[in-house]
Amino acid sequence: MREFIHQLPKAELHLHIEGTFEPELMFEIGRRNGVKLRFKSVDEVRKAYAFTDLQSFLDIYYEGAQVLLKEQDFYDLTWAYLKKASEQNVCHTEIFFDPQTHTDRGVPFETVIKGIHGAMADAEAKLGITSKLILCFLRHLSAEAAMETLEQALPYKEWIIGVGLDSSEVGHPPKKFAAVFKRAEEEGFLIVAHAGEEGPPEYIWQALKTLNVRRIDHGVRSPEDPELVKYLVEHQIPLTVCPLSNIKLCVFDRIEDHNIKEMLDMGIKVTVNSDDPAYFGGYMDENFIAIQEGLHLSREDLYQLSKNAFEASFLTPDEKQKRIDELDTFMKAHS
Ligand code: ADE
Ligand code: ZN
Repeated sequence: MREFIHQLPKAELHLHIEGTFEPELMFEIGRRNGVKLRFKSVDEVRKAYAFTDLQSFLDIYYEGAQVLLKEQDFYDLTWAYLKKASEQNVCHTEIFFDPQTHTDRGVPFETVIKGIHGAMADAEAKLGITSKLILCFLRHLSAEAAMETLEQALPYKEWIIGVGLDSSEVGHPPKKFAAVFKRAEEEGFLIVAHAGEEGPPEYIWQALKTLNVRRIDHGVRSPEDPELVKYLVEHQIPLTVCPLSNIKLCVFDRIEDHNIKEMLDMGIKVTVNSDDPAYFGGYMDENFIAIQEGLHLSREDLYQLSKNAFEASFLTPDEKQKRIDELDTFMKAHS
């Protein structure tokens, strides 16, 4: 099964580029930029990755990002992730970035996006992995700050497929950002939002009805509301689920308690993703392996999860069909 998972053609739709920052690279970039971390070693950093909830993770995640200053830093970070993803047979990925984490420290928007975009273009040319970029607004900051960030993004519109919403969920409902998402949609961006990770099903409804999202990021609290489940199934709204993230942030106690298989069986279009793999103990293969072993998934379940991701992606209908045909060829060869 592990080899099958590794070989399975996969798409990743929920991945924060700042969350792929491995401690080794963090130290290397910190050293070359003359930025000191409060940790003395890579081991000490990894030991600090004992989280109790989303906020306890976000505090350390924003701290690590402080060493990123130059275009080359963003390039190196993005290249390292794309190389790793490609090695795990992820053939398409849709990457989140948090510009406010950097612009609020004085790093220009242009520096961030040029570094990330440069690595995405090189990875497509050299590794064959395709990717798209989604700008996330930090929901613990104001709606006005999100609107300013959207304005900064407009000159780079061709490089950004969509906008999303992340950071501290509870107390920052989607409707707080109704105006900025309306403007983003008018500008042609596709809409996604984190909802129902720690926040209630009501936040998922708001993301759907007020922000007009194409996908819900996380959404694992959906089964608490039967009407919502019915809506997600009827409208085939994808959920980008992140199993190891949910365990590390104590959304579920154990992988055996995770509800991804239950949601798959309900007919919800669930997908598997790694969220912040450097912090949560694994990339795509490790997430698939954890749920396969913990929830006894069959090859057909794994196929369906992978197919859901290609269908839920922001690829064109022709590109989706090509990927799904490749997936079907893989399945025929392995059954
Ligand atoms: N930023 C990075 N990872 C996140 C997550 N899992 N939830 C909300 N914001 C995030
Ligand atoms: Zn996330």
